[in-house]
Amino acid sequence: MGSIDTPTITENGSTQSYAAAAPADDNQRPLASSNGAQESEATKKRRSGIHPLEVGTRVMCRWRDGKYHPVKVIERRKLQSAEPSDYEYYVHYTEFNRRLDEWVKLEQLDLDSVETVVDEKVEDKVASLKMTRHQKRKIDETHVEVGHEELDAASLREHEEFTKVKNIATIELGRYEIETWYFSPFPPEYNDSLKLYFCEFCLNFMKRKEQLQRHMRKCDLKHPPGDEIYRSGTLSMFEVDGKKNKVYGQNLCYLAKLFLDHKTLYYDVDLFLFYVLCECDDRGCHMVGYFSKEKHSEESYNLACILTLPPYQRKGYGKFLIAFSYELSKKEGKVGTPERPLSDLGLLSYRGYWTRVLLDILKKHKGNISIKELSDMTAIKAEDILTTLQSLELIQYRKGQHVICADPKVLDRHLKAAGRGGLEVDVSKLIWTPYKEQS
Ligand code: ACO
Ligand code: ZN
Repeated sequence: MGSIDTPTITENGSTQSYAAAAPADDNQRPLASSNGAQESEATKKRRSGIHPLEVGTRVMCRWRDGKYHPVKVIERRKLQSAEPSDYEYYVHYTEFNRRLDEWVKLEQLDLDSVETVVDEKVEDKVASLKMTRHQKRKIDETHVEVGHEELDAASLREHEEFTKVKNIATIELGRYEIETWYFSPFPPEYNDSLKLYFCEFCLNFMKRKEQLQRHMRKCDLKHPPGDEIYRSGTLSMFEVDGKKNKVYGQNLCYLAKLFLDHKTLYYDVDLFLFYVLCECDDRGCHMVGYFSKEKHSEESYNLACILTLPPYQRKGYGKFLIAFSYELSKKEGKVGTPERPLSDLGLLSYRGYWTRVLLDILKKHKGNISIKELSDMTAIKAEDILTTLQSLELIQYRKGQHVICADPKVLDRHLKAAGRGGLEVDVSKLIWTPYKEQS
């Protein structure tokens, strides 16, 4: 399966970089400043007239794959230099997820490609009038980011305006320095910090390394607070009640928001339980990821937010957390579904999990099976089963009802495409009583 590009993580000085999602067409362009000698006077004049670029400008920008991609200028800031036009620009690559937004220098921009109409509404109108239907469809397709579909245009715009520029660029957590993906609303006194230092156990965060070092000498936690409800080999799951551990819950939300785009940060952590997955060694239990869950959900959500910290991603932990959330639902005797909207990576992980679980059952099962039976066996909500099987074209509508068509060869093909199974949850190691049953 291909890779969706994500920022980088550093461990002990070496940088791991995820493979780039480079588009197929070759859109290499000369550097904006490299051909200055041959520039005509007219071009020079035009260029000096357009920068500093206005917020809202659309232009081509050289990305880390060396190729030029369309961007929109989100923000600009002046550099400390004598030149009045020396700015750097915060850009959104319109083909990519917002986690790849970044500050770029003028020389990365191809000024010949600047679209000069800046007023957004006028610009969009003009562009769509000029576009052929084919172009329009192409743009619509590339602009739809999975996960936005349930936010209306006004709330999406408001969200993007408020969170448009990443505030914290990197964090230090345990052994890792991690580049952040999105804005997170840390208290105002942290606004001037590009980097934050987290205690990996209590998740308190600090502005300076020395503060963290001092904290680590005093902090007596070696694992998340709360109850250890699962241990298998070196993996542990802790259940943290947001009401009993408010500060921990809030710290976790601040941290998680750095990697989650369209999720509201709940200050009211009282209403949530946090399931924190750790890898344990003789130094303690190190957080790998988590999911949160409402204590009581009206909409049968069994998971609110899920995160695998970037250094641990693509190792099967996400599917482990998803599987775990369904095991809890089974113990509650309920069906569950994740809270919407799902992010692009969230949807991929859920699709992969649902496909594997459902197709494994269909492969083994003899005779007919209904969606209701599948739902009872897996705790996956019927709608999610239907959309998964429909997307795999395993459902036919015959005589007024949905019929599952499960040709073993087709199932094997889909299972192969669904990727690896993820880490297994050993249910015999889960010691847990549902929330309502606690005193
Ligand atoms: N590129 C392509 N496919 C990917 C990528 C990627 N970068 N990351 C995950 N996937 C897909 C793959 O199909 C993968 O299976 P495979 O490795 O067998 O091919 C599958 O998703 C899940 O892989 P896991 O290793 O089990 O999951 P991971 O530990 O990476 O965690 C998660 C997935 C939790 C979505 C992680 O990407 C993450 O934390 N992202 C940031 C936060 C986020 O978007 N959370 C979901 C929001 S929606 C919600 O909270 C309800
Ligand atoms: Zn601490």
